[in-house]
Amino acid sequence: MDLKQTKTYIIGNWKMNPASEADAEEMFDEVEDEVYKIDDEKVEVVICPPFVFLSNFDSDGKVKLGAQDIFWENSGAFTGEISADMLRRLGVRYAIIGHSERRQYLGETDEMVNLKIKAALAGKVRPILCIGETLEERQRGDTGEIIVNQVEKALTEIPEKDLIGNLVIAYEPIWAIGSGAVPSPDEVMSIGLLIKKILAKIYGNRVAAESVPILYGGSVNRDNAFDLVDKTGLSGLLIGGASLKPREFVEIVRRFAK
Ligand code: 13P
Repeated sequence: MDLKQTKTYIIGNWKMNPASEADAEEMFDEVEDEVYKIDDEKVEVVICPPFVFLSNFDSDGKVKLGAQDIFWENSGAFTGEISADMLRRLGVRYAIIGHSERRQYLGETDEMVNLKIKAALAGKVRPILCIGETLEERQRGDTGEIIVNQVEKALTEIPEKDLIGNLVIAYEPIWAIGSGAVPSPDEVMSIGLLIKKILAKIYGNRVAAESVPILYGGSVNRDNAFDLVDKTGLSGLLIGGASLKPREFVEIVRRFAK
């Protein structure tokens, strides 16, 4: 099964950074200036800043906006939450869902992830589903089982037609996030193929498997970025730390725009 997609997705997850609006604007402008110079038919560049900065940025420009989370209801008594409707009205195109930091620190479950994906799809915001195993799970040899379980639960009762052209999946091994450790391209490729197989099994054909972009995330930097796509057949990268350094981030983007 071929993993290659036509576009490479380079997505920056700023997490809870930076502290100031001025710094956020400077970082975003630096990325945007560069992205205007490249062939955006080849690369889809997305920045996911903290919610509070989303309205500072141009949502019609070449850099697409993403949120770092979304809630599963559209309005009501849900203190602190942000809906797909609100995000879409701001011009936000993507939302990261089920990031391991939210699963770990906020107790986000596979069931919540499933509800959030449904809400994002209904609200015309593209979900970026994050999955990945812990170090202990990897050492026990349970990686495959964890991935199967997370994908199946996240996509429960989601019709294939809703996913096509919308869902993005990011494989982010938890032990690789912020650690400097990175799985080999072979390992990343085999997880990519496993995800495609799960999609083919759930939907009984290869349409979703072939159309859903699968990304890698975890300690991506300017030195390893190219191989993590080129040698794995994946469709792009979800970048944390290196996305906070605009110069390094655009260097990575440029590499895929050639
Ligand atoms: P790092 O690139 O800092 O390892 O973070 C990866 C990540 O969690 C992106 O969502």
